Amino acid sequence: MFRVGALLFLFAFGSQALVDRGKVVALNNVNYYVGGTPVSRLDISRTDSFQAAVIPDSDIFPLTVINLGTSTFAGTQFRTHVANFSSSDDVFQPEFLRTIYLQNERNVTSSVDLASCSPLLKQSGNHLLMTAKSITSRLGGVVQTTLTECLPHGPYFVSAKTGDIFKAYRLYHDENLAFIQGTVDDGANGFMSLPAVTEDVIARSIAVPSRLYYTVTDDQPLAGLRFGLKDIYHVKGLRTSAGSRSYFYTYGPQNTTAPSVQQLLDQGAVLVGKMGTVQFANAGSPTADWVDLHCPFNPRGDGYQDPSGSSTGPGAGIASYDWLDFSVGSDTGGSMRGPAGSQGVYGNRPSTGAISMDHVVPLSNALDTAGAFARDADIYARVVQHWYTNTNADYRDYPKRLEWVPQGSGYFSPSSLSSEASTAIENFLHGLESFLGTNRTIVNVTQQWAETRPSNTTADINELFNTTYAVLTTVDQWNLVGKPLFADYAAAHDGRTPFINPNPLARWQWGQETNSNSSYGAALHNMTMFRDWWQTSGFGAPDNTTCSESIFAYIWDIGVPSYRNRYFISTNSPPLGFDYWAIAGYAGAGEVIVPVGESPYNSTISGKTEYLPVSVALQAARGCDHMLAGLVRDLQASGVLKAVNTGSRLWS
Ligand SMILES: *[C@@H]1O[C@H](CO)[C@@H](O)[C@H](O)[C@H]1NC(C)=O
Ligand SMILES: *[C@@H]1O[C@H](CO)[C@@H](O)[C@H](O)[C@H]1NC(C)=O
Ligand SMILES: *[C@@H]1O[C@H](CO)[C@@H](O)[C@H](O)[C@H]1NC(C)=O
Ligand SMILES: *[C@@H]1O[C@H](CO)[C@@H](O)[C@H](O)[C@H]1NC(C)=O
Ligand SMILES: *[C@@H]1O[C@H](CO)[C@@H](O)[C@H](O)[C@H]1NC(C)=O
Ligand SMILES: *[C@@H]1O[C@H](CO)[C@@H](O)[C@H](O)[C@H]1NC(C)=O
Ligand SMILES: *[C@@H]1O[C@H](CO)[C@@H](O)[C@H](O)[C@H]1NC(C)=O
Ligand SMILES: *[C@@H]1O[C@H](CO)[C@@H](O)[C@H](O)[C@H]1NC(C)=O
Ligand SMILES: *[C@@H]1O[C@H](CO)[C@@H](O)[C@H](O)[C@H]1NC(C)=O
Ligand SMILES: *[C@@H]1O[C@H](CO)[C@@H](O)[C@H](O)[C@H]1NC(C)=O
Ligand SMILES: *[C@@H]1O[C@H](CO)[C@@H](O)[C@H](O)[C@H]1NC(C)=O
Repeated sequence: MFRVGALLFLFAFGSQALVDRGKVVALNNVNYYVGGTPVSRLDISRTDSFQAAVIPDSDIFPLTVINLGTSTFAGTQFRTHVANFSSSDDVFQPEFLRTIYLQNERNVTSSVDLASCSPLLKQSGNHLLMTAKSITSRLGGVVQTTLTECLPHGPYFVSAKTGDIFKAYRLYHDENLAFIQGTVDDGANGFMSLPAVTEDVIARSIAVPSRLYYTVTDDQPLAGLRFGLKDIYHVKGLRTSAGSRSYFYTYGPQNTTAPSVQQLLDQGAVLVGKMGTVQFANAGSPTADWVDLHCPFNPRGDGYQDPSGSSTGPGAGIASYDWLDFSVGSDTGGSMRGPAGSQGVYGNRPSTGAISMDHVVPLSNALDTAGAFARDADIYARVVQHWYTNTNADYRDYPKRLEWVPQGSGYFSPSSLSSEASTAIENFLHGLESFLGTNRTIVNVTQQWAETRPSNTTADINELFNTTYAVLTTVDQWNLVGKPLFADYAAAHDGRTPFINPNPLARWQWGQETNSNSSYGAALHNMTMFRDWWQTSGFGAPDNTTCSESIFAYIWDIGVPSYRNRYFISTNSPPLGFDYWAIAGYAGAGEVIVPVGESPYNSTISGKTEYLPVSVALQAARGCDHMLAGLVRDLQASGVLKAVNTGSRLWS
């Protein structure tokens, strides 16, 4: 008894005993998170007018910082600023005008024409107008004061006790359960879990900072783009789940941010949360495999269609939320491309090695890549072209050859192609042909391999690749993730075995039963042989002017329903045999999925006709990711492709 008491006594006096993790406040029924590290401090010693702006029962008041561009600040400039803030930012709202601080970044003396500003000040319920010392006003009622750190303009919250200024984060609800957790910058080069919940308790809250804080520069080309991250990338300060409760609880907060993620942060992108993944980035269907965590919801069609995986959260989230600009997943054997197709968004598997995969939970070192999803090809291409620094950025023109595989990726039979899907694909191909100034050449990879393969190997590509993917993924993931997790879990739980979802467990067991370790060298050999062949006698040849001699294209998704409430038995082996999705991985080449149309179906969920996305895969020679992204951006600019919306339909 005494010892327990003594222990509690000690804890109570520890420095971590009492911590303010921030608070949730509402302005006009919009929720905001106030907390984290203060970004500046306002000298509030000369006035107490801000008291009238304090949110009841708190010590917080809203503040708008405005940069003066002109030497005289009058009503017209004031109005334009407020209109600009409202139209370009979803965090700002006029309630923030209750207190205002005017500063001049250019450090020129300026004056405020208070008389012309006062109608709008009155209308917005302003209680206090403050200015930097360099700014003068002819009328009284303006308080000159200082900030300890100069701030970008936009909305903030201020502590009425200390003058500490905090960023304004708007809280959104993750209705489609795309996120594992919301995150905020911890002010120390890492992140912390968002310590905030709103009244929509069935959804997680995600906090997004004002867009007004960020300015795109040469050093920060991705400034202000908000992104979510598949929860297999380690981020300093946060736990990683990899879709597994045992993994999440076995390992503590990570000490290092994956270099691929750090690169995005360094370029100004804003991480808002970690997103759902099929467990350990394997494959899985909602009813068979999502045992540990719930499968995110695909917003397309009736909202109850399989979102695909394994980058499920990033795919579902980018198709659901206007407040998210892009998301990051990974692709080993289709884990980016599957969700890109099912959600009808842009999403890629880059060339293998395009960016570091260090500090990412691996599936296979030979095949893992990091990809991006976006609704808009401009944002997609901006991210890709700044992110992949290990690939060739050089291209002067687009390829003049289009190689087209008329049948699909093997996910469907051609008989299930609707006339709407067929028309959408044909229209896209015509557009692509005229953009490139070429006509398609019909190709058949199986036949090309049989006819031009290295003479000492099998003519049957299905035999060559029967177990290649299975061996590469089961060996690497068991050795690098499964085995250590079993050992670490057992050590912490008196020899117990961790729970593993059916699909990864079956795959790891397949690896053990078939002794796949002994075939790893053969698998790498087969892959390398194919990679060399693809660049010389296949359809992935490089070119000095266009980076890639051709664009290799095939149908990715035809928009047929796959209801998430259908019961499946989890598969008991990894995928075997050759299929079109596997080419990019074996060839190490970049491939992007582009939305080209929608196909109707009669929903058994909604009782209405609903629509699902139709998409095409575009591939280029290994290392041509910048060219491929530029092509997609320019196809959108020329109207061959269109940016998509969030929600049930792509374009309406
Ligand atoms: C408002 O936005 C427009 C268009 O983005 C820009 O040209 C203008 O300079 C902005 N005005 C102010 C006062 O920021
Ligand atoms: C602004 O100008 C004043 C006077 O010209 C000068 O003393 C001060 O250092 C300048 N501040 C900055 C941030 O440039
Ligand atoms: C982070 O570092 C601490 C201290 O070295 C260590 O105990 C912990 O296991 C590390 N966390 C992870 C996830 O590796
Ligand atoms: C494409 O085919 C059409 C019809 O066969 C032909 O008129 C046109 O010249 C071809 N274009 C190119 C670039 O070969
Ligand atoms: C491709 O070639 C293989 C082998 O010659 C053949 O079996 C297959 O039917 C062809 N596919 C198409 C779509 O023509
Ligand atoms: C086929 O021959 C090439 C070139 O001699 C060699 O590199 C390769 O290993 C051989 N492949 C097999 C499957 O033996
Ligand atoms: C593919 O591998 C599986 C599992 O090892 C085996 O049962 C099957 O016969 C193989 N198929 C071919 C075409 O080699
Ligand atoms: C490698 O290719 C050979 C055919 O050349 C095939 O028999 C073997 O199963 C393949 N092995 C792996 C692991 O891919
Ligand atoms: C499988 O390979 C890994 C690494 O290549 C090695 O550490 C492990 O001991 C091997 N296991 C077996 C059963 O051969
Ligand atoms: C491409 O460039 C390489 C190296 O710069 C050169 O060796 C090669 O001949 C060029 N190929 C063509 C087709 O111009
Ligand atoms: C939906 O059902 C109606 C009525 O049975 C039928 O006419 C229509 O063709 C169906 N549409 C689709 C896309 O299957």
